[in-house]
Amino acid sequence: MDLYAVFGHPVGHSLSPRIHRMFAEETAQQIEYERREPPLDGFADALRAFREEGGHGANVTVPFKEEAWSLADQRSERAERAGAVNTLVCGETLYGDNTDGEGLINDLRNNLGVGLAGKRILIVGAGGAARGVLGPLLAEQPASLVIANRTAGRAKVLAKAFDDIGNIEGRGLDTLAGERFEVVINATSSGLEGEVPALPESVVSDGATAYDMLYGAEPTPFLRWAERNGAFRVRDGLGMLVEQAAGAFELWRHIRPSTEPVIETLRHDTR
Ligand code: ATR
Repeated sequence: MDLYAVFGHPVGHSLSPRIHRMFAEETAQQIEYERREPPLDGFADALRAFREEGGHGANVTVPFKEEAWSLADQRSERAERAGAVNTLVCGETLYGDNTDGEGLINDLRNNLGVGLAGKRILIVGAGGAARGVLGPLLAEQPASLVIANRTAGRAKVLAKAFDDIGNIEGRGLDTLAGERFEVVINATSSGLEGEVPALPESVVSDGATAYDMLYGAEPTPFLRWAERNGAFRVRDGLGMLVEQAAGAFELWRHIRPSTEPVIETLRHDTR
């Protein structure tokens, strides 16, 4: 059986093993999928050991995505831009890709029926989670993409790194009063502390789609806030997680699994 693993720290709660086992069952692929939790300074060693064991491919999650990027011998263009790798294909050389943006876009388009072409999009946050999806978001050709961050400087630097591929602007959260968007994506980690970014209600009040990259058994604080303030539709990041996994699975096994039954099963089990 071909060996795969997810590397993260912590990784104990990762749903990736379940997701990939469901994909494998559905597509009749013989794979083994494990969790690996190297010490914070031990990712390179753990990855080397995994390849020596015959590991075929890996998913990489927080906090190792940037290190995976530097360890890869070759990278896809989208990984190159993202500065982070979430999927490794282990062969003679180590190939790094990033399926996070594809996962977000597929969840929005295929599962929610929300296309991004011509839309006014707001992405909140300017850390690794935001950076990982900006290239694919711009490739959808939105009318405009605003990155807003608590620390305005980070948003500006990030926008500059992508402004050759689309209409993108970096701002502080405090510059958004009165502005309306059609799609608002929360890429901050604020929900982990039970907080909501300090946004004016206008950003969702015109019937926006509000999307949180985080997910949990309960609606996230951002999604509760968006619902109270007039969002038309709210959705957490569980679908993105499954869709990015499908992208990785396809890279490894050259077969595309169906995501809908997996999302439904996980949704059911986390409630
Ligand atoms: P990640 O890889 O998850 O993006 P990160 O690089 O640490 O992690 O970035 C976290 C993001 O969440 C940042 O955009 C951060 O804003 P700052 O750059 O101003 O720190 C944002 N963030 C975290 N907690 C927040 C809060 N309570 N309100 C608003 N933004 C928050």
